[in-house]
Amino acid sequence: MFKAKEIKPGIWWVGVIEWNERYIHGFTMPYGSTNNAYLIMDEHVTLVDTCTERYWPELLDRISEIVDPVKIEYLISNHAEKDHEGALREVLAAAPQAKIVASPQGCKILETYVGGERELIPVKTGDTLTIGARTLSFIQTTMVHWPDNMVTYSPADKILFSNDAFGQFLATSERFADEVDPCLLFSCAKKYFANIIMPFAKQTAKAVAAVKELDLDMIAPSHGLIWRSQIADILDAYEAWCRLKPTDSAVIAYASMYGTTDRMARIIAEAMMEQGISVRLYDLAVSDISDIMTYIMDAKYVAVGSACHNMTVLPEAGRFLTYLKGLAPKGRIGIPFGSFGWAQPAQKEISTQLEGAGFAVPDAPLTTNWNDSPEDDQALYDAVTQIIESAE
Ligand code: FEO
Repeated sequence: MFKAKEIKPGIWWVGVIEWNERYIHGFTMPYGSTNNAYLIMDEHVTLVDTCTERYWPELLDRISEIVDPVKIEYLISNHAEKDHEGALREVLAAAPQAKIVASPQGCKILETYVGGERELIPVKTGDTLTIGARTLSFIQTTMVHWPDNMVTYSPADKILFSNDAFGQFLATSERFADEVDPCLLFSCAKKYFANIIMPFAKQTAKAVAAVKELDLDMIAPSHGLIWRSQIADILDAYEAWCRLKPTDSAVIAYASMYGTTDRMARIIAEAMMEQGISVRLYDLAVSDISDIMTYIMDAKYVAVGSACHNMTVLPEAGRFLTYLKGLAPKGRIGIPFGSFGWAQPAQKEISTQLEGAGFAVPDAPLTTNWNDSPEDDQALYDAVTQIIESAE
């Protein structure tokens, strides 16, 4: 029923299109997702990665169209996270002879899946595995974005199985990147980078440099479309994204209660625009935090606001600050702000959290009473102007 697709002679895509998946760990996926797995038909049949647990019957169906899974001899696990190895137990049950090949860190994690009941072969950068006409080689890509990550290269096919790196959350009937709208493709790739790869940009830059040394016809990630004619484009994009160089831009994200913090956000935006700063403004009650993160990747200024509520921030701001803490790029300016009725702990809390996330934060948050006067508004405008001018 579920068909495999040959992407190179003897190499088959056998993954799962997750048409209706919309959310994973804070990240919304408006276009769905794909979990790719690849079957290499050689003397020793080899499977690269699996998929989420839920879709294992579909994965095995696609494999079975090409070969009886019982003939799989190697299962290469480039990364042990459950979106790639959630179906491991079911696949191993169908492939009783399969040995698992993974990085040393991957083998440790995979032991928790198989409990010592299956042979695990640890491989490091430079190690090879001959599966017949092909000799596969491995490159550890540690912390891109887990300790166990690695990529697998087949020189005979000039194909790199890159797992999470170069992925996009995009469910399509097409398998190749050059078959879909490039604007959608690269915006999905950038959102993916901002929400998954960004904290590990330094390690990723090294991985990109190593990948650039390879002779490549294809980069086959484990999410989304396979890169073919745009390999240089995605490698160049990753090189640029890894630099995390801020532009003269700002993100203003806030939670308002009766409208004063919203008004403050708009005044901050006006002051910034007057200074030539490109601004994106988001009411956190109606905005998606993973979309915002794509703009934070480029932003020199990140202003976070909340009205004070129950002596802390509003829940929408709290959720955003938690997400930001795990992903925030370094070397940016954080601007806490917000309104208050009778006490100002919310804005102090934003200051503390922004500092904890690595932002340079002005000495005092920008606050105003919820019955703000024209003088208050002017003082806010002037304070933001001062922050911008001091930073230049
Ligand atoms: Fe696609 Fe780190 O899992």
